[in-house]
Amino acid sequence: MDGKNNQPCHTVNLKYAADIHSIKEAQLRIAPFIHTTPVLSSSTLDSLAAKQLFFKCECFQKGGAFKIRGASNAIFSLHDFEASKGVVTHSSGNHAAAVSLAAKLRKIPAYIVIPENAPKCKVENVKRYGGQVIWSEVTMQSREAVAKKVLEDTGAVLIHPFNDGRIISGQGTISLELLEQVPGIDTIIVPISGGGLISGISIAAKAINPSIRIIAAEPKGADDASQSKVAGRIVTLPETNTIADGLRAFLGDLTWPVVRDLVDEIITVSDEEIIKAMRMCYEILKVAVEPSGAIGLAAVLSDQFKQSRAWQESNKVAIIVSGGNVDLAALWDSLAR
Ligand SMILES: Cc1ncc(COP(=O)(O)O)c(C=O)c1O
Repeated sequence: MDGKNNQPCHTVNLKYAADIHSIKEAQLRIAPFIHTTPVLSSSTLDSLAAKQLFFKCECFQKGGAFKIRGASNAIFSLHDFEASKGVVTHSSGNHAAAVSLAAKLRKIPAYIVIPENAPKCKVENVKRYGGQVIWSEVTMQSREAVAKKVLEDTGAVLIHPFNDGRIISGQGTISLELLEQVPGIDTIIVPISGGGLISGISIAAKAINPSIRIIAAEPKGADDASQSKVAGRIVTLPETNTIADGLRAFLGDLTWPVVRDLVDEIITVSDEEIIKAMRMCYEILKVAVEPSGAIGLAAVLSDQFKQSRAWQESNKVAIIVSGGNVDLAALWDSLAR
């Protein structure tokens, strides 16, 4: 990898920030640091969806979410001289914990800029993996300004949560694993936020089988990707409002082209549908899933999916259960409401 522009060296004319080769390289690079996650099924949920469903359980991944795939690929791609000063990120969610964990494995410092209103459980996750918490104000401007200062003071490297070829390549390893575990998958449903996860998954899946359909699942209260597809350009929103705390970011300039070209459809669901799906994950699958991780099940059970052409054409549907880091306090609160 070329550490300066985040592009794999072998692909000078890359169409996207990652390709099947960089994703296969990532798979080898991160194998010692991640779990091969299980694929679960449930005949009860199959009957409800009238499809064969396969739940790829990244909630059982190290750190409780898929994010360690991209974070470990990025951090273990760094040359020693770059890595020695450590890494920085200003995400307060699953990416922050994954960067902390991957940095710990590489024995380098991780500086995590966290807004002062971040949920306690997320801060604890970062600390548990040895990340050094640096507080910022709540606004994105403050987070970015503090991260910039940390970068200048330490000489560390910024690890972006999604707009980075190494992150996209790491997340794409999910498809390599999934399509080996369950041959014949025709549709993959993927939560979307900044788009790193779905970019990696769709690049790898379509390289293996171009007819695989990729469906994004997005909260109605943060539907920038859906609006971007309609507008044919990146749309950002003045504000977001959803219980899915991992799905509030907007697409980046490296993820948008992949979403534009390779994502076949975007299904938007309400918070109510997400909470109902979370409940089904607990009660039927017996799995603790966070709102962002349950959204794929909500999408497959939605009216929008049932009325789509994709519904008529799909049989074996994989759902990426992307994370299980539930903020219990927020969950009780929303269930009570
Ligand atoms: C659990 C979970 N699912 C999905 C996503 C969305 O990933 P991306 O931003 O790469 O689209 C995130 C991002 O933080 C997440 O934490």
